[in-house]
Amino acid sequence: MLVPFVPTPYEVAREMLRCVKAGKNDVVLDLGAGIGNILKIAKEEFNVKLAVGVEIDRKLCREAYKNNNREFEIICGDMLTLAPILLPKADILVSYLSTRTNELLEPLIIQNGKKGLRIASNDFQYPNLRLVEKRRVTAEGILGPTEHTIYCYEL
Ligand SMILES: C[S@@+](CC[C@H](N)C(=O)[O-])C[C@H]1O[C@@H](n2cnc3c(N)ncnc32)[C@H](O)[C@@H]1O
Repeated sequence: MLVPFVPTPYEVAREMLRCVKAGKNDVVLDLGAGIGNILKIAKEEFNVKLAVGVEIDRKLCREAYKNNNREFEIICGDMLTLAPILLPKADILVSYLSTRTNELLEPLIIQNGKKGLRIASNDFQYPNLRLVEKRRVTAEGILGPTEHTIYCYEL
């Protein structure tokens, strides 16, 4: 496993999807989807065509199925293996990973992503992708407010 599970708060997910202008014609891919928080907002509030996540932890995959109301798809597997297969079909990539994982993923995105792929990353930058916009969001949690930075890119 490359990074532990920490869910993106719904208000941050909303801002990520606004930043990449998610809409009804888009296929949204979350690599390391956790329980599918971003995918749920993508489907319920942005009415995207398809929302698909890849998650390696089987327990989280099961929770994601429970969380999804048949709204999004979860593939239980390794993002580094599945990214080359799924990226060519995506219009939007969302991620909440780590600096190191983004460095590992970036060459796969460049090689396999469609031209014009929009990418929103919660808190961690991709070193060489073209940054279009950066947004700050404050989310309310049970332990108090947390600050997030959203990085939005285009291929
Ligand atoms: C920080 S969480 C983000 C979850 C979700 N994207 C969100 O924003 O709510 C990162 C997730 O990546 C998953 N993960 C870590 N390594 C992975 C891998 N090699 N393939 C697929 N998922 C992985 C973890 O299990 C974890 O659920």
